[in-house]
Amino acid sequence: MALQKFLGECEKISGLKAQANAREGRGLASANCFELSREQKKDPREIAEIAAGKASKRKKTLVGGVAADNGYVNFFPSKKFFELALKQALRKKFGENAELIGQKIVVEYSSPNVGKPFHIGHIRSTILGDAIKRLLEASGAKVISFNYPGDSGTQVAKLVLALELKKATPKNERQLLKLYQWIHKQLEKERAQNGVLKLGEKVREVSDAIEAQDAKTLGTVEKIREISFRSFEKSYKKLGVKFDEVTGESKFFANAKQKALEAKALAPQFVQTDPKDGTLVLKLEEFSIPNNILLRSNGTTLYITRDVGLADYKWEKYAFDKSITVTASEQNTHFKQLFKLLELMKRPYALKLAHVGFGLITLESGKISSREGNLVYLDEVLKEASESALAQIGERGAGYSPAERKKISSIVGVGSTKFGFLRVSNEKNILFNPSKAVSFTGDTGAYLQYTAVRAKSLLEKSGVKKIKPSELKFIGEKGADNDRVNGGLNEEEKKLVEKISLFPSIVSQATRHYSPHIVCEYLLKLAAAFNEFYAKHSVLDADSEDKKKLRLALVAATANVIENGLKIIGVSVPKKM
Ligand code: ARG
Repeated sequence: MALQKFLGECEKISGLKAQANAREGRGLASANCFELSREQKKDPREIAEIAAGKASKRKKTLVGGVAADNGYVNFFPSKKFFELALKQALRKKFGENAELIGQKIVVEYSSPNVGKPFHIGHIRSTILGDAIKRLLEASGAKVISFNYPGDSGTQVAKLVLALELKKATPKNERQLLKLYQWIHKQLEKERAQNGVLKLGEKVREVSDAIEAQDAKTLGTVEKIREISFRSFEKSYKKLGVKFDEVTGESKFFANAKQKALEAKALAPQFVQTDPKDGTLVLKLEEFSIPNNILLRSNGTTLYITRDVGLADYKWEKYAFDKSITVTASEQNTHFKQLFKLLELMKRPYALKLAHVGFGLITLESGKISSREGNLVYLDEVLKEASESALAQIGERGAGYSPAERKKISSIVGVGSTKFGFLRVSNEKNILFNPSKAVSFTGDTGAYLQYTAVRAKSLLEKSGVKKIKPSELKFIGEKGADNDRVNGGLNEEEKKLVEKISLFPSIVSQATRHYSPHIVCEYLLKLAAAFNEFYAKHSVLDADSEDKKKLRLALVAATANVIENGLKIIGVSVPKKM
Protein backbone atom coordinates (compact mmCIF):
# COMPACT_ATOMS: atom_id res chain seq x y z
CA MET A 1 0.00 0.00 0.00
CA ALA A 2 1.08 3.58 -0.66
CA LEU A 3 1.64 4.38 3.00
CA GLN A 4 3.78 1.29 3.60
CA LYS A 5 5.89 2.13 0.56
CA PHE A 6 6.24 5.69 1.75
CA LEU A 7 7.41 4.56 5.18
CA GLY A 8 9.87 2.17 3.56
CA GLU A 9 11.33 4.96 1.52
CA CYS A 10 11.59 7.26 4.55
CA GLU A 11 13.59 4.61 6.30
CA LYS A 12 15.80 3.96 3.31
CA ILE A 13 16.78 7.57 2.73
CA SER A 14 17.24 8.51 6.38
CA GLY A 15 18.27 5.29 8.07
CA LEU A 16 15.66 6.10 10.71
CA LYS A 17 12.49 4.27 11.65
CA ALA A 18 9.60 6.42 10.51
CA GLN A 19 6.05 6.30 11.81
CA ALA A 20 2.92 7.57 10.17
CA ASN A 21 1.51 10.29 12.31
CA ALA A 22 -0.43 12.72 10.16
CA ARG A 23 0.15 15.34 12.83
CA GLU A 24 -0.54 18.95 12.06
CA GLY A 25 2.24 20.37 9.89
CA ARG A 26 4.57 17.46 10.61
CA GLY A 27 4.39 15.60 7.36
CA LEU A 28 2.83 12.23 6.75
CA ALA A 29 5.46 10.46 8.81
CA SER A 30 8.20 11.32 11.20
CA ALA A 31 11.11 9.70 12.97
CA ASN A 32 12.41 10.70 16.35
CA CYS A 33 16.11 10.78 17.14
CA PHE A 34 15.89 10.50 20.91
CA GLU A 35 16.96 6.91 21.20
CA LEU A 36 19.93 7.51 18.92
CA SER A 37 20.76 10.58 20.94
CA ARG A 38 21.00 8.48 24.09
CA GLU A 39 23.11 5.85 22.34
CA GLN A 40 25.45 8.31 20.68
CA LYS A 41 25.38 10.85 23.49
CA LYS A 42 24.64 13.55 20.99
CA ASP A 43 22.03 16.29 20.77
CA PRO A 44 18.91 14.82 19.08
CA ARG A 45 18.46 18.09 17.17
CA GLU A 46 21.88 17.71 15.63
CA ILE A 47 21.21 14.09 14.65
CA ALA A 48 17.92 15.11 13.06
CA GLU A 49 19.56 17.97 11.12
CA ILE A 50 22.25 15.70 9.73
CA ALA A 51 19.83 12.88 8.83
CA ALA A 52 17.43 15.29 7.15
CA GLY A 53 20.27 16.90 5.22
CA LYS A 54 21.46 13.58 3.91
CA ALA A 55 17.96 12.33 3.10
CA SER A 56 17.18 15.50 1.19
CA LYS A 57 20.00 14.80 -1.22
CA ARG A 58 19.05 11.17 -1.86
CA LYS A 59 16.89 10.07 -4.76
CA LYS A 60 13.27 9.99 -3.72
CA THR A 61 10.03 8.97 -5.35
CA LEU A 62 7.21 9.03 -2.84
CA VAL A 63 8.91 11.36 -0.41
CA GLY A 64 8.75 14.92 -1.67
CA GLY A 65 10.44 16.72 1.19
CA VAL A 66 12.34 16.13 4.40
CA ALA A 67 12.73 18.56 7.28
CA ALA A 68 14.36 18.42 10.68
CA ASP A 69 12.25 19.69 13.53
CA ASN A 70 13.47 19.73 17.11
CA GLY A 71 14.87 16.24 17.27
CA TYR A 72 12.41 14.84 14.78
CA VAL A 73 12.74 14.27 11.05
CA ASN A 74 9.50 14.93 9.21
CA PHE A 75 8.73 13.44 5.82
CA PHE A 76 6.38 15.07 3.34
CA PRO A 77 4.77 13.18 0.47
CA SER A 78 5.41 13.89 -3.19
CA LYS A 79 2.97 14.22 -6.01
CA LYS A 80 3.77 10.60 -6.90
CA PHE A 81 2.63 9.53 -3.46
CA PHE A 82 -0.69 11.29 -3.80
CA GLU A 83 -1.18 9.77 -7.22
CA LEU A 84 -0.50 6.29 -5.92
CA ALA A 85 -2.60 6.76 -2.78
CA LEU A 86 -5.58 7.99 -4.76
CA LYS A 87 -5.23 5.25 -7.32
CA GLN A 88 -5.29 2.60 -4.62
CA ALA A 89 -8.13 4.26 -2.73
CA LEU A 90 -10.36 4.10 -5.79
CA ARG A 91 -10.05 0.32 -5.94
CA LYS A 92 -13.19 -1.54 -5.11
CA LYS A 93 -11.70 -3.60 -2.30
CA PHE A 94 -9.41 -0.92 -0.92
CA GLY A 95 -8.77 -1.67 2.75
CA GLU A 96 -8.67 -5.42 2.44
CA ASN A 97 -5.32 -7.11 2.87
CA ALA A 98 -3.78 -10.54 2.71
CA GLU A 99 -2.16 -10.69 6.13
CA LEU A 100 -4.20 -13.66 7.32
CA ILE A 101 -4.48 -15.62 4.11
CA GLY A 102 -4.43 -19.35 4.74
CA GLN A 103 -5.48 -18.94 8.38
CA LYS A 104 -8.52 -20.71 9.73
CA ILE A 105 -10.14 -18.89 12.62
CA VAL A 106 -13.13 -19.89 14.73
CA VAL A 107 -14.97 -16.91 16.21
CA GLU A 108 -17.58 -17.68 18.82
CA TYR A 109 -20.06 -14.95 19.68
CA SER A 110 -23.66 -14.15 20.56
CA SER A 111 -24.19 -17.40 22.54
CA PRO A 112 -27.44 -16.22 24.15
CA ASN A 113 -29.21 -18.09 26.89
CA VAL A 114 -32.29 -19.94 25.82
CA GLY A 115 -35.63 -19.13 27.45
CA LYS A 116 -35.14 -15.40 27.69
CA PRO A 117 -34.94 -12.64 25.13
CA PHE A 118 -31.48 -11.40 24.24
CA HIS A 119 -29.73 -9.95 27.21
CA ILE A 120 -28.38 -6.58 26.13
CA GLY A 121 -24.91 -8.04 26.61
CA HIS A 122 -25.73 -10.67 24.01
CA ILE A 123 -26.62 -7.88 21.58
CA ARG A 124 -23.16 -6.43 22.09
CA SER A 125 -21.59 -9.86 21.72
CA THR A 126 -23.49 -10.44 18.48
CA ILE A 127 -22.59 -7.09 16.94
CA LEU A 128 -18.98 -7.10 18.14
CA GLY A 129 -18.36 -10.74 17.24
CA ASP A 130 -19.77 -10.24 13.77
CA ALA A 131 -17.58 -7.17 13.22
CA ILE A 132 -14.48 -9.09 14.36
CA LYS A 133 -15.38 -11.88 12.00
CA ARG A 134 -15.68 -9.43 9.10
CA LEU A 135 -12.40 -7.75 10.01
CA LEU A 136 -10.61 -11.10 9.99
CA GLU A 137 -12.18 -11.91 6.64
CA ALA A 138 -11.06 -8.57 5.25
CA SER A 139 -7.53 -9.66 6.10
CA GLY A 140 -7.99 -12.88 4.17
CA ALA A 141 -8.73 -15.37 6.97
CA LYS A 142 -11.24 -18.15 6.59
CA VAL A 143 -13.61 -17.61 9.50
CA ILE A 144 -16.03 -20.05 11.06
CA SER A 145 -18.69 -18.17 13.01
CA PHE A 146 -19.82 -20.23 15.98
CA ASN A 147 -22.78 -19.75 18.26
CA TYR A 148 -22.79 -21.59 21.62
CA PRO A 149 -26.17 -20.89 23.17
CA GLY A 150 -26.77 -21.62 26.82
CA ASP A 151 -29.47 -24.25 26.39
CA SER A 152 -29.11 -25.86 29.78
CA GLY A 153 -28.27 -24.37 33.13
CA THR A 154 -30.61 -23.16 35.84
CA GLN A 155 -32.61 -20.73 33.76
CA VAL A 156 -33.70 -23.56 31.50
CA ALA A 157 -34.38 -25.82 34.47
CA LYS A 158 -36.56 -23.09 35.99
CA LEU A 159 -38.51 -22.79 32.78
CA VAL A 160 -39.03 -26.53 32.45
CA LEU A 161 -40.44 -26.49 35.97
CA ALA A 162 -42.67 -23.50 35.21
CA LEU A 163 -44.08 -25.25 32.15
CA GLU A 164 -44.79 -28.32 34.22
CA LEU A 165 -46.38 -26.51 37.14
CA LYS A 166 -48.55 -24.27 35.00
CA LYS A 167 -49.20 -26.96 32.39
CA ALA A 168 -48.36 -24.26 29.91
CA THR A 169 -47.69 -24.61 26.20
CA PRO A 170 -46.03 -21.31 25.31
CA LYS A 171 -46.13 -20.27 21.68
CA ASN A 172 -43.56 -17.52 21.57
CA GLU A 173 -40.69 -15.95 23.42
CA ARG A 174 -42.86 -13.36 25.13
CA GLN A 175 -44.94 -16.09 26.73
CA LEU A 176 -41.73 -17.83 27.73
CA LEU A 177 -40.52 -14.68 29.41
CA LYS A 178 -43.82 -14.40 31.34
CA LEU A 179 -43.37 -17.95 32.60
CA TYR A 180 -39.79 -17.24 33.53
CA GLN A 181 -40.76 -14.16 35.45
CA TRP A 182 -43.52 -16.07 37.20
CA ILE A 183 -41.28 -18.88 38.43
CA HIS A 184 -38.65 -16.39 39.39
CA LYS A 185 -41.13 -14.60 41.60
CA GLN A 186 -42.28 -17.85 43.23
CA LEU A 187 -38.70 -18.76 44.00
CA GLU A 188 -38.04 -15.37 45.48
CA LYS A 189 -41.13 -15.57 47.66
CA GLU A 190 -40.07 -18.97 48.89
CA ARG A 191 -36.62 -17.68 49.74
CA ALA A 192 -38.05 -14.67 51.57
CA GLN A 193 -40.14 -16.96 53.77
CA ASN A 194 -36.97 -18.55 55.11
CA GLY A 195 -38.59 -21.98 55.18
CA VAL A 196 -37.88 -25.16 53.25
CA LEU A 197 -36.99 -24.49 49.63
CA LYS A 198 -39.38 -26.90 48.00
CA LEU A 199 -39.38 -25.17 44.65
CA GLY A 200 -35.64 -24.56 44.79
CA GLU A 201 -35.16 -28.27 45.39
CA LYS A 202 -37.36 -29.02 42.38
CA VAL A 203 -35.27 -26.77 40.15
CA ARG A 204 -32.22 -28.75 41.19
CA GLU A 205 -34.00 -31.99 40.39
CA VAL A 206 -34.82 -30.76 36.90
CA SER A 207 -31.18 -29.66 36.45
CA ASP A 208 -30.03 -33.12 37.42
CA ALA A 209 -32.52 -34.67 35.02
CA ILE A 210 -31.10 -32.55 32.19
CA GLU A 211 -27.59 -33.56 33.17
CA ALA A 212 -28.67 -37.22 33.26
CA GLN A 213 -30.18 -36.75 29.78
CA ASP A 214 -33.67 -37.74 30.94
CA ALA A 215 -35.77 -38.12 27.79
CA LYS A 216 -38.94 -36.37 28.95
CA THR A 217 -37.08 -33.41 30.40
CA LEU A 218 -34.95 -33.07 27.30
CA GLY A 219 -38.14 -33.02 25.23
CA THR A 220 -39.34 -29.94 27.12
CA VAL A 221 -35.91 -28.35 26.84
CA GLU A 222 -36.03 -28.90 23.11
CA LYS A 223 -39.41 -27.12 22.91
CA ILE A 224 -38.07 -24.16 24.84
CA ARG A 225 -34.99 -24.05 22.69
CA GLU A 226 -37.04 -24.04 19.50
CA ILE A 227 -39.19 -21.12 20.61
CA SER A 228 -36.16 -19.13 21.69
CA PHE A 229 -34.26 -19.88 18.55
CA ARG A 230 -37.08 -18.81 16.34
CA SER A 231 -36.85 -15.39 17.95
CA PHE A 232 -33.04 -15.30 17.92
CA GLU A 233 -33.06 -16.13 14.22
CA LYS A 234 -35.30 -13.15 13.58
CA SER A 235 -32.84 -10.91 15.39
CA TYR A 236 -29.87 -12.34 13.48
CA LYS A 237 -31.66 -11.76 10.23
CA LYS A 238 -32.37 -8.14 11.10
CA LEU A 239 -28.75 -7.63 12.04
CA GLY A 240 -27.46 -9.44 8.97
CA VAL A 241 -25.57 -11.93 11.12
CA LYS A 242 -25.05 -15.53 10.04
CA PHE A 243 -23.53 -18.48 11.84
CA ASP A 244 -21.72 -21.39 10.30
CA GLU A 245 -22.38 -23.52 13.36
CA VAL A 246 -24.82 -23.35 16.24
CA THR A 247 -24.08 -25.94 18.93
CA GLY A 248 -25.49 -25.49 22.41
CA GLU A 249 -24.02 -26.19 25.79
CA SER A 250 -26.27 -29.24 26.26
CA LYS A 251 -24.18 -31.16 23.75
CA PHE A 252 -21.23 -31.08 26.14
CA PHE A 253 -22.90 -32.62 29.18
CA ALA A 254 -22.35 -36.14 27.92
CA ASN A 255 -18.56 -36.19 28.19
CA ALA A 256 -17.99 -33.35 30.65
CA LYS A 257 -17.39 -35.58 33.67
CA GLN A 258 -14.88 -37.60 31.72
CA LYS A 259 -13.06 -34.37 30.73
CA ALA A 260 -12.84 -33.39 34.39
CA LEU A 261 -11.36 -36.77 35.33
CA GLU A 262 -8.94 -36.49 32.43
CA ALA A 263 -7.84 -33.12 33.80
CA LYS A 264 -7.18 -34.75 37.15
CA ALA A 265 -5.12 -37.49 35.52
CA LEU A 266 -3.12 -35.11 33.31
CA ALA A 267 -2.51 -32.34 35.80
CA PRO A 268 -2.73 -33.95 39.26
CA GLN A 269 -0.76 -31.11 40.75
CA PHE A 270 -3.46 -28.60 39.85
CA VAL A 271 -6.65 -30.63 39.79
CA GLN A 272 -7.43 -32.24 43.14
CA THR A 273 -10.37 -33.65 45.05
CA ASP A 274 -11.14 -31.63 48.14
CA PRO A 275 -10.98 -34.12 51.06
CA LYS A 276 -13.56 -32.09 52.98
CA ASP A 277 -16.44 -31.99 50.54
CA GLY A 278 -15.40 -34.20 47.64
CA THR A 279 -15.52 -31.52 44.94
CA LEU A 280 -12.91 -31.62 42.21
CA VAL A 281 -11.03 -28.34 42.41
CA LEU A 282 -8.91 -26.58 39.79
CA LYS A 283 -6.12 -24.89 41.74
CA LEU A 284 -4.44 -22.02 40.00
CA GLU A 285 -3.08 -19.87 42.85
CA GLU A 286 0.41 -20.47 41.51
CA PHE A 287 -0.58 -18.52 38.38
CA SER A 288 -2.41 -15.85 40.35
CA ILE A 289 -5.70 -17.04 38.93
CA PRO A 290 -8.60 -17.84 41.29
CA ASN A 291 -9.52 -21.50 41.81
CA ASN A 292 -12.61 -23.05 40.32
CA ILE A 293 -14.59 -26.25 40.62
CA LEU A 294 -14.64 -28.84 37.84
CA LEU A 295 -16.99 -31.38 39.43
CA ARG A 296 -19.46 -31.06 42.28
CA SER A 297 -19.41 -33.72 44.99
CA ASN A 298 -22.44 -35.40 43.41
CA GLY A 299 -20.52 -35.73 40.15
CA THR A 300 -22.38 -33.04 38.21
CA THR A 301 -20.41 -30.71 35.95
CA LEU A 302 -20.08 -26.95 35.65
CA TYR A 303 -19.91 -24.26 32.98
CA ILE A 304 -16.11 -24.51 32.82
CA THR A 305 -16.13 -28.31 32.59
CA ARG A 306 -18.36 -28.14 29.54
CA ASP A 307 -16.12 -25.51 28.01
CA VAL A 308 -13.27 -28.04 28.00
CA GLY A 309 -15.41 -30.31 25.85
CA LEU A 310 -16.33 -27.42 23.59
CA ALA A 311 -12.69 -26.42 23.07
CA ASP A 312 -11.71 -30.00 22.17
CA TYR A 313 -14.68 -30.22 19.84
CA LYS A 314 -13.75 -27.04 17.96
CA TRP A 315 -10.16 -28.21 17.62
CA GLU A 316 -11.08 -31.68 16.39
CA LYS A 317 -13.57 -30.30 13.91
CA TYR A 318 -11.72 -27.28 12.56
CA ALA A 319 -8.01 -27.64 13.42
CA PHE A 320 -7.99 -23.85 13.74
CA ASP A 321 -5.05 -21.48 13.70
CA LYS A 322 -6.88 -19.33 16.21
CA SER A 323 -10.06 -19.68 18.24
CA ILE A 324 -11.63 -16.55 19.65
CA THR A 325 -14.52 -16.26 22.10
CA VAL A 326 -16.38 -12.99 22.56
CA THR A 327 -18.21 -12.47 25.86
CA ALA A 328 -18.88 -9.89 28.54
CA SER A 329 -15.74 -9.15 30.54
CA GLU A 330 -17.50 -10.56 33.60
CA GLN A 331 -16.21 -13.82 32.18
CA ASN A 332 -12.56 -12.74 31.91
CA THR A 333 -11.58 -14.87 34.90
CA HIS A 334 -13.51 -17.83 33.59
CA PHE A 335 -11.53 -17.75 30.36
CA LYS A 336 -8.22 -17.31 32.17
CA GLN A 337 -9.03 -20.42 34.17
CA LEU A 338 -10.16 -22.34 31.13
CA PHE A 339 -7.15 -21.46 28.97
CA LYS A 340 -4.74 -22.27 31.80
CA LEU A 341 -6.49 -25.58 32.39
CA LEU A 342 -6.22 -26.50 28.71
CA GLU A 343 -2.55 -25.60 28.79
CA LEU A 344 -2.04 -27.81 31.86
CA MET A 345 -3.90 -30.57 30.01
CA LYS A 346 -1.27 -30.12 27.28
CA ARG A 347 -3.80 -29.43 24.58
CA PRO A 348 -1.83 -28.69 21.38
CA TYR A 349 -4.10 -25.74 20.64
CA ALA A 350 -3.94 -24.15 24.09
CA LEU A 351 -1.87 -21.21 22.92
CA LYS A 352 -4.10 -20.54 19.94
CA LEU A 353 -7.00 -19.45 22.13
CA ALA A 354 -8.11 -15.88 22.70
CA HIS A 355 -10.88 -14.25 24.66
CA VAL A 356 -12.31 -10.86 23.81
CA GLY A 357 -14.14 -9.33 26.75
CA PHE A 358 -16.39 -6.30 26.57
CA GLY A 359 -17.86 -3.86 29.07
CA LEU A 360 -21.38 -3.48 30.37
CA ILE A 361 -24.19 -1.83 28.50
CA THR A 362 -26.91 0.19 30.09
CA LEU A 363 -29.74 1.83 28.29
CA GLU A 364 -30.22 5.52 28.79
CA SER A 365 -33.65 5.92 30.26
CA GLY A 366 -36.23 5.85 27.55
CA LYS A 367 -39.02 3.72 26.25
CA ILE A 368 -37.24 0.41 26.29
CA SER A 369 -35.22 0.60 29.46
CA SER A 370 -38.31 0.34 31.62
CA ARG A 371 -38.26 -3.38 31.01
CA GLU A 372 -37.17 -5.43 33.94
CA GLY A 373 -33.45 -5.43 34.44
CA ASN A 374 -31.26 -5.86 31.44
CA LEU A 375 -33.69 -7.89 29.40
CA VAL A 376 -34.57 -6.11 26.20
CA TYR A 377 -36.05 -7.15 22.95
CA LEU A 378 -33.60 -6.34 20.23
CA ASP A 379 -36.64 -5.64 18.10
CA GLU A 380 -37.56 -2.75 20.33
CA VAL A 381 -34.11 -1.24 20.20
CA LEU A 382 -34.07 -1.48 16.42
CA LYS A 383 -37.60 -0.18 16.16
CA GLU A 384 -36.83 2.91 18.16
CA ALA A 385 -33.68 3.46 16.09
CA SER A 386 -35.52 3.08 12.78
CA GLU A 387 -38.38 5.32 13.83
CA SER A 388 -35.98 8.00 14.82
CA ALA A 389 -34.16 7.62 11.49
CA LEU A 390 -37.47 7.93 9.69
CA ALA A 391 -38.28 11.13 11.53
CA GLN A 392 -34.99 12.62 10.39
CA ILE A 393 -35.46 11.63 6.78
CA GLY A 394 -38.62 13.74 7.10
CA GLU A 395 -38.64 16.67 4.71
CA ARG A 396 -35.31 15.78 3.21
CA GLY A 397 -36.88 12.75 1.62
CA ALA A 398 -40.05 14.41 0.41
CA GLY A 399 -39.72 12.64 -2.92
CA TYR A 400 -39.17 9.14 -1.49
CA SER A 401 -41.83 6.47 -1.79
CA PRO A 402 -43.10 4.86 1.43
CA ALA A 403 -41.19 1.69 0.55
CA GLU A 404 -37.98 3.66 0.04
CA ARG A 405 -38.45 5.42 3.35
CA LYS A 406 -38.92 2.14 5.11
CA LYS A 407 -35.83 0.63 3.55
CA ILE A 408 -33.66 3.64 4.30
CA SER A 409 -34.82 3.95 7.88
CA SER A 410 -34.14 0.29 8.48
CA ILE A 411 -30.61 0.44 7.02
CA VAL A 412 -29.90 3.59 9.01
CA GLY A 413 -31.55 2.28 12.19
CA VAL A 414 -29.75 -1.08 12.18
CA GLY A 415 -26.47 0.35 10.90
CA SER A 416 -26.33 3.14 13.45
CA THR A 417 -27.23 0.84 16.31
CA LYS A 418 -24.34 -1.39 15.32
CA PHE A 419 -22.02 1.58 14.94
CA GLY A 420 -23.15 2.95 18.31
CA PHE A 421 -22.04 -0.27 19.95
CA LEU A 422 -18.86 -0.68 17.93
CA ARG A 423 -17.44 2.81 18.28
CA VAL A 424 -16.86 2.26 21.99
CA SER A 425 -13.66 0.33 22.67
CA ASN A 426 -14.32 -3.24 23.77
CA GLU A 427 -13.48 -2.94 27.43
CA LYS A 428 -15.43 0.27 28.01
CA ASN A 429 -19.01 0.39 29.24
CA ILE A 430 -21.72 1.75 26.98
CA LEU A 431 -24.61 3.97 27.90
CA PHE A 432 -26.83 3.41 24.93
CA ASN A 433 -29.59 5.53 23.50
CA PRO A 434 -30.97 4.30 20.17
CA SER A 435 -32.42 7.67 19.16
CA LYS A 436 -29.13 9.47 19.73
CA ALA A 437 -27.21 6.75 17.91
CA VAL A 438 -29.09 7.46 14.69
CA SER A 439 -28.71 11.21 14.73
CA PHE A 440 -27.60 12.42 11.31
CA THR A 441 -25.15 14.78 12.96
CA GLY A 442 -22.49 14.04 15.53
CA ASP A 443 -20.26 11.02 15.94
CA THR A 444 -22.72 8.49 14.65
CA GLY A 445 -23.04 5.79 12.04
CA ALA A 446 -25.89 7.74 10.46
CA TYR A 447 -23.58 10.70 9.98
CA LEU A 448 -21.07 8.49 8.16
CA GLN A 449 -23.75 6.88 6.05
CA TYR A 450 -24.99 10.34 5.20
CA THR A 451 -21.51 11.58 4.31
CA ALA A 452 -21.01 8.64 1.94
CA VAL A 453 -24.42 9.11 0.33
CA ARG A 454 -23.81 12.82 -0.15
CA ALA A 455 -20.39 12.22 -1.67
CA LYS A 456 -21.81 9.70 -4.08
CA SER A 457 -24.64 11.92 -5.16
CA LEU A 458 -22.13 14.67 -5.87
CA LEU A 459 -20.26 12.28 -8.16
CA GLU A 460 -23.45 11.44 -9.93
CA LYS A 461 -24.26 15.10 -10.39
CA SER A 462 -20.84 15.77 -11.90
CA GLY A 463 -21.60 13.53 -14.86
CA VAL A 464 -18.06 12.12 -14.74
CA LYS A 465 -18.44 8.38 -15.17
CA LYS A 466 -15.02 7.03 -14.45
CA ILE A 467 -12.06 8.67 -12.83
CA LYS A 468 -8.74 7.53 -14.23
CA PRO A 469 -6.07 8.21 -11.62
CA SER A 470 -3.37 8.28 -14.31
CA GLU A 471 -5.05 11.26 -15.90
CA LEU A 472 -5.20 13.32 -12.75
CA LYS A 473 -3.17 16.48 -12.80
CA PHE A 474 -1.89 17.82 -9.56
CA ILE A 475 -1.64 21.54 -9.98
CA GLY A 476 -0.80 23.96 -7.26
CA GLU A 477 -3.16 26.70 -6.28
CA LYS A 478 -2.03 30.12 -5.33
CA GLY A 479 -0.66 29.87 -1.85
CA ALA A 480 -0.34 26.12 -2.02
CA ASP A 481 2.94 24.38 -1.33
CA ASN A 482 5.20 23.98 -4.30
CA ASP A 483 4.68 21.14 -6.71
CA ARG A 484 7.32 18.83 -5.35
CA VAL A 485 6.19 18.78 -1.76
CA ASN A 486 2.55 17.84 -1.13
CA GLY A 487 1.87 17.45 -4.82
CA GLY A 488 0.65 20.99 -5.11
CA LEU A 489 -2.43 20.19 -3.12
CA ASN A 490 -3.94 22.74 -0.81
CA GLU A 491 -4.03 22.07 2.92
CA GLU A 492 -7.48 20.44 3.03
CA GLU A 493 -6.91 18.30 -0.04
CA LYS A 494 -3.58 17.15 1.28
CA LYS A 495 -4.95 16.24 4.68
CA LEU A 496 -7.77 14.34 3.10
CA VAL A 497 -5.53 12.16 0.90
CA GLU A 498 -3.20 11.54 3.81
CA LYS A 499 -6.13 10.34 5.93
CA ILE A 500 -7.37 8.17 3.10
CA SER A 501 -3.97 6.57 2.70
CA LEU A 502 -4.03 5.42 6.34
CA PHE A 503 -7.06 3.18 5.82
CA PRO A 504 -5.38 -0.19 5.07
CA SER A 505 -3.12 0.08 8.10
CA ILE A 506 -6.12 1.03 10.25
CA VAL A 507 -7.90 -2.13 9.13
CA SER A 508 -4.94 -4.32 9.94
CA GLN A 509 -4.46 -2.64 13.31
CA ALA A 510 -8.14 -3.15 14.17
CA THR A 511 -7.90 -6.78 13.09
CA ARG A 512 -4.79 -7.48 15.13
CA HIS A 513 -6.41 -6.07 18.26
CA TYR A 514 -9.89 -7.46 17.57
CA SER A 515 -11.00 -3.85 17.91
CA PRO A 516 -13.57 -2.55 15.42
CA HIS A 517 -13.68 0.74 17.31
CA ILE A 518 -10.33 1.64 15.72
CA VAL A 519 -12.07 1.62 12.34
CA CYS A 520 -14.99 3.65 13.74
CA GLU A 521 -12.77 6.37 15.18
CA TYR A 522 -10.82 6.56 11.96
CA LEU A 523 -13.92 6.88 9.78
CA LEU A 524 -15.25 9.70 11.93
CA LYS A 525 -11.97 11.56 11.54
CA LEU A 526 -11.94 10.91 7.83
CA ALA A 527 -15.48 12.27 7.50
CA ALA A 528 -14.43 15.37 9.43
CA ALA A 529 -11.48 15.91 7.07
CA PHE A 530 -13.79 15.45 4.11
CA ASN A 531 -16.30 17.94 5.42
CA GLU A 532 -13.58 20.49 6.04
CA PHE A 533 -12.38 20.08 2.49
CA TYR A 534 -15.86 20.22 1.08
CA ALA A 535 -16.88 23.28 3.06
CA LYS A 536 -13.89 25.24 1.82
CA HIS A 537 -13.44 24.19 -1.79
CA SER A 538 -15.87 23.90 -4.58
CA VAL A 539 -15.75 20.64 -6.46
CA LEU A 540 -18.07 21.16 -9.41
CA ASP A 541 -17.08 24.82 -9.80
CA ALA A 542 -13.35 24.34 -9.36
CA ASP A 543 -11.01 26.80 -11.15
CA SER A 544 -10.13 24.39 -13.88
CA GLU A 545 -11.30 21.14 -15.38
CA ASP A 546 -8.16 19.42 -14.05
CA LYS A 547 -8.77 20.62 -10.54
CA LYS A 548 -12.36 19.52 -10.75
CA LYS A 549 -11.32 16.01 -11.76
CA LEU A 550 -8.80 15.84 -8.99
CA ARG A 551 -11.38 16.89 -6.44
CA LEU A 552 -13.89 14.44 -7.82
CA ALA A 553 -11.28 11.74 -7.29
CA LEU A 554 -10.99 12.85 -3.67
CA VAL A 555 -14.74 12.66 -3.28
CA ALA A 556 -14.88 9.21 -4.87
CA ALA A 557 -12.03 7.91 -2.74
CA THR A 558 -13.63 9.22 0.45
CA ALA A 559 -16.97 7.62 -0.39
CA ASN A 560 -15.19 4.37 -1.18
CA VAL A 561 -13.27 4.31 2.09
CA ILE A 562 -16.32 5.15 4.21
CA GLU A 563 -18.41 2.54 2.47
CA ASN A 564 -15.72 -0.15 2.67
CA GLY A 565 -14.87 0.75 6.25
CA LEU A 566 -18.48 0.49 7.34
CA LYS A 567 -18.94 -2.73 5.41
CA ILE A 568 -15.91 -4.26 7.07
CA ILE A 569 -17.57 -3.80 10.45
CA GLY A 570 -21.00 -4.89 9.23
CA VAL A 571 -22.73 -1.57 8.52
CA SER A 572 -24.35 -0.95 5.12
CA VAL A 573 -24.83 2.37 3.37
CA PRO A 574 -28.23 3.13 1.81
CA LYS A 575 -28.51 4.42 -1.77
CA LYS A 576 -30.28 7.59 -0.69
CA MET A 577 -30.81 9.19 2.63
N1 ARG B 1 -24.12 -18.46 27.25
C1 ARG B 1 -23.10 -17.78 27.96
C2 ARG B 1 -23.67 -16.54 28.64
O1 ARG B 1 -24.65 -16.03 28.20
C3 ARG B 1 -21.98 -17.33 27.06
C4 ARG B 1 -21.18 -18.44 26.47
C5 ARG B 1 -19.80 -17.99 26.12
N2 ARG B 1 -19.00 -19.00 25.52
C6 ARG B 1 -18.34 -19.98 26.14
N3 ARG B 1 -17.63 -20.80 25.39
N4 ARG B 1 -18.39 -20.12 27.42
O2 ARG B 1 -23.12 -16.07 29.60
